[in-house]
Amino acid sequence: MSKSRTGDPVAVGILGCGNVGGSLARMLLEDAAGVAERSGVRFELAGVAVADPTRERAGIPAGLITGDAMGLVRDRSVEVVVELIGGIDTALELVSAALAAGKPVVTANKALLAEHGRGLEALARASGVDLLYEAAVAGAIPLVRPLRESLAGESIHRVTGIVNGTTNFVLTMMSELGSSYEEALTEAKRLGMAEADPTADVEGFDAAAKAAILAGLAFHCDVKAADVQREGIASVRPLDIEFARRLGYVVKLLAVAERVDRPVPKAHMPAGAAPGEQATASAGAAPGEQATASAGAAPGEQATASAGEISVRVHPAMVPASHPLASVRGPFNAVFVEGAGCGDLMFYGQGAGGLPTASAVLGDLVDAAHHLRSAGASYIPERSPAVIHPPEDLWSAWYLSIDVVDRPGVLAAVATVFGDHGISIRSMEQVGLADEARLVFLTHMARQGSFMGTLEALKGIDAVEQIGGALRVLGDVP
Ligand SMILES: NC(=O)c1ccc[n+]([C@@H]2O[C@H](COP(=O)([O-])OP(=O)(O)OC[C@H]3O[C@@H](n4cnc5c(N)ncnc54)[C@H](OP(=O)(O)O)[C@@H]3O)[C@@H](O)[C@H]2O)c1
Repeated sequence: MSKSRTGDPVAVGILGCGNVGGSLARMLLEDAAGVAERSGVRFELAGVAVADPTRERAGIPAGLITGDAMGLVRDRSVEVVVELIGGIDTALELVSAALAAGKPVVTANKALLAEHGRGLEALARASGVDLLYEAAVAGAIPLVRPLRESLAGESIHRVTGIVNGTTNFVLTMMSELGSSYEEALTEAKRLGMAEADPTADVEGFDAAAKAAILAGLAFHCDVKAADVQREGIASVRPLDIEFARRLGYVVKLLAVAERVDRPVPKAHMPAGAAPGEQATASAGAAPGEQATASAGAAPGEQATASAGEISVRVHPAMVPASHPLASVRGPFNAVFVEGAGCGDLMFYGQGAGGLPTASAVLGDLVDAAHHLRSAGASYIPERSPAVIHPPEDLWSAWYLSIDVVDRPGVLAAVATVFGDHGISIRSMEQVGLADEARLVFLTHMARQGSFMGTLEALKGIDAVEQIGGALRVLGDVP
């Protein structure tokens, strides 16, 4: 540690030499003087750990490559460890060992943080060292540091993000070129924007891990990926995107983390709401009903109400064309933060790619090196267990398209099902299709459980041929 305080080079060990690790290693080797001039820190690359040390790595001397990642972590000359391997088990072992040895860690590993963030932060706090992860959410976009530092005292009530470039590229192609989901995904793969197995992206797992991290940062609570309500984009159809466009909306896969204490208009309470029942977003909860504690709560640990109830979810949604997130196209990411004092903020940029992500990692590395020099570390707030609001009690407006047999009385039967579930229809459009008709509804604010009940009941009507797209509408709809 004394070495770095004197202004000597800071020795870095990089774990992983793939897209991000390789880019970072080359930045440190090829632009060492530039980085030193701009940041005030001279870095010395002590080693790069990989799975296959026999493979040649462009631009990286073979002498720096090692197959012994734990050996590099334990190497006494290595002062800062950068974890860019990915996955959970090996990364957890290596990062824990580094932190326990009093070495700051920089990582881009969302899966690791969404599963073990709280424990690793406790370890970093106990060792008095940094655990920095700017690149874990939205790649190059400065987001984690603004949430952790610039907005540290802010009362944030909602974070809404487009945090997965693959799905945003696919939805943009479907919206702008009328491509089918399959065509758009094939093109994304061809351009290297989707993995051969795109499940983690299209099913929302990647976005869910990022949503968990964002919720933890915004609300100082412990949210795991498994706590995130998740829906992917595979069921989004071009015709729903086209209807959305005609209604003034763009379809996006959103990651949302929000406090659930917004009032719901009394006019849109379910028909059966008991007199005196609170008109809040949690109106569906029975009086005295306990908020569910997240799986993150340690045994015997009380889910405190200090953080309040939150909802963390990933799903496709209709975004009003006038909303700043609607203009985020192709593989770009953006995160919209709403706070009591700061108002609305939007962070936009490249959410992935080796070089953009390595740029975010380098920023953390500079911070970690400066902290080493001053024998300090970033403040890591304690996190309380998350209190996750029951998804069925969330309120939003909905879009629904259904195909029905075109005969008298069908519309009345469908409308009765909505009414029976306390769902108020805001607008309806009917499109003729030979013997069938497509009915497109926009509802007023409705409880998720009631809307899902409506879908189930509609399936039981003979004249309903197919339930099509069902999409939440972003924002409060009158
Ligand atoms: N790529 C992006 O755009 C992006 C964006 C944001 C965040 N991230 C995150 O950044 C991290 C790295 O992503 P990436 O795209 O760079 O991954 P990648 O290209 O798959 O590279 C992974 C690297 O880890 C090495 N590795 C695997 N197992 C190892 C082990 N047991 N010991 C030592 N090295 C091992 C691999 O070695 P070999 O080279 O020998 O196979 C490879 O060099 C992930 O956590 C990812 O989620 C990536």
